[in-house]
Amino acid sequence: MVDLSTVIEKRQSTRGPFEARRAIPKGHLRRILEAARWSPTAHNMQNYEVVVVDDRKLLESIGSIHGSVSERFIEENLAQLSFSEDELRKRKIGILGTMFPPSWRTPGARPATDEDAPPQTRLVGSSAALVIVLYDPSRRAPASEGDFLGIMSLGCVMQNMWLMAHSLGIAFQILSALSEREVEKEVKRLLAVPDRLKIAFSARLGYPIAPQPYLRVRREVEDFAHHNSYGNKELR
Ligand SMILES: Cc1cc2nc3c(=O)[nH]c(=O)nc-3n(C[C@H](O)[C@H](O)[C@H](O)COP(=O)(O)O)c2cc1C
Repeated sequence: MVDLSTVIEKRQSTRGPFEARRAIPKGHLRRILEAARWSPTAHNMQNYEVVVVDDRKLLESIGSIHGSVSERFIEENLAQLSFSEDELRKRKIGILGTMFPPSWRTPGARPATDEDAPPQTRLVGSSAALVIVLYDPSRRAPASEGDFLGIMSLGCVMQNMWLMAHSLGIAFQILSALSEREVEKEVKRLLAVPDRLKIAFSARLGYPIAPQPYLRVRREVEDFAHHNSYGNKELR
């Protein structure tokens, strides 16, 4: 049995193409849903529904939806980017700018052509499955401002599903682009999702065509942990 800390450390985002014709066994999809089922949620509200999409035509239709990207996203995303592996290693946070199309790395530029469409959305069409986690904004965790606790709960669902997928050898990529207003509207229409529900997050799943290792960085424990008093770094 694989050690839990190995699963936690090795779980990664897999952003490249997946084997288009290789389906995920139903039993494995079921285990990923069982992992969602046992997620902790505030007040045990279980404030989610999950749509699993593995119909090829639907995947292709979703993959062909083109959203737009806001100037605000471009601007704020830029602050998280490093432009070389050396820079990323030094910063220990953020992601490599080369993951994004050139127009996304240029302030003021807007994606205008198909070439500029986020590659992650296009790759949905050739993924084995998509999971879409839905959320009902009218069901708030008790006294939780902005339903902060309810939304945190959805993060637990994401993590449980992701760890289970990883432990089964299934690659996973979160696709926030599917929650963008216009894209979300079209995805909801294709999947007959009731109006009152929102897409909390989506992930495409599958088996990568080739291994896709990439530079993953993290702060050291000493960089974020404090012992008894904020700022005291003597946690050894
Ligand atoms: C709430 C949330 C939204 C994310 N959205 C995206 C996304 O839209 N596209 C993507 O490729 N990765 C997305 N990610 C993955 C993160 O970029 C990734 O987890 C982070 O860079 C660390 O890399 P790792 O997953 O390989 O450890 C998201 C992760 C979270 C938790």
